[in-house]
Amino acid sequence: MDLYPWFLFLHILFAVMFFFAHGASLAVAFRLPVERDPKAREALLAITGITIAPMFGGFFGMGVFGVALGVIDSSWKQGWWWLSIILMLGVFVWMMWYSRKFYSPIRKALGVMYISGFANENPASRIYAGREEVDRLIALTNPRLLIWVSFIITALVLYLMTFKPF
Ligand code: HEM
Repeated sequence: MDLYPWFLFLHILFAVMFFFAHGASLAVAFRLPVERDPKAREALLAITGITIAPMFGGFFGMGVFGVALGVIDSSWKQGWWWLSIILMLGVFVWMMWYSRKFYSPIRKALGVMYISGFANENPASRIYAGREEVDRLIALTNPRLLIWVSFIITALVLYLMTFKPF
């Protein structure tokens, strides 16, 4: 049985799952600076808590089958394959850092559960830091930067996978 088309199918399916799920974070990032009510802000940030499991699952599946494809057709010997993996992992790590650096302090100031470090769950304190502080923290986020960096890198990876230039 030729596993290649099945692995390709699963690689693409998991990629679709990842992008479907993470679209919610994109909407949250753009809506957060517009909302003023702390309860609405809290509800928005809870959305990314729902989509995090399919997002991680999609990314993991996409990676596993991408590596399996590279082993089957020996593309692991080519530069485009390694560069694609490095770029995707780079965005992933940058995003995790960005989430901890900019979104966790907003959750903390709202008094809800937030993640610090790799995956430390800090329980909700229910202590609201006040409107001005939360406004200040939200103003530090830059959803346009997130979109541009991720879009350019995703486009580059797609180019590398399609044209296999080196
Ligand atoms: C290839 C593209 C992308 C990858 C691999 C990626 C990956 C990630 C990862 C791993 C996290 C950390 C999740 C966590 O542990 O908290 C994250 C968070 C986040 N991402 Fe992305 N992302 C991508 C594209 C985007 C785009 C285009 C946006 C648009 C604005 C975006 C917005 C966000 C936001 C707002 C968070 C923080 C969510 C929160 O803490 O509630 N991401 N991303």
